[in-house]
Amino acid sequence: MLTFVTICQNRTCLKDGSPQVLEAFTQALDGISEVALTASGCLGQCGSGPTVIVQSPNLPVIWYSGVWPEAAGVIVQRHIVGGRPVWELMSKTRHPHARREYGPPEIAMVERVLSFLHKNRTIR
Ligand code: FES
Repeated sequence: MLTFVTICQNRTCLKDGSPQVLEAFTQALDGISEVALTASGCLGQCGSGPTVIVQSPNLPVIWYSGVWPEAAGVIVQRHIVGGRPVWELMSKTRHPHARREYGPPEIAMVERVLSFLHKNRTIR
């Protein structure tokens, strides 16, 4: 199944470097099949761009914000090839719980235990 990568090329994102991000994705995706790369108009996240959306099979739609060219290879390898969204680069407004939902299991588990302990006033 196809993965769709959409990169905003509208005014605000252009100023923030989206052409370089598009070029970096083009290079990082070289040789990787079943990925459709699209340059789009405004994605409604102006001011926190460059904005990149990745729609992979069997995963929710992931919004990345403030993407820079060097991050493209990380998103391609970890998310598109490896199936693990890069929570560190995900949009904070679209994915406020990204770290908990997609972070390393160890961190998510530690956070869950700490939250439980705080709720039960075991620790202060
Ligand atoms: S200009 Fe890129 S999200 Fe609006």
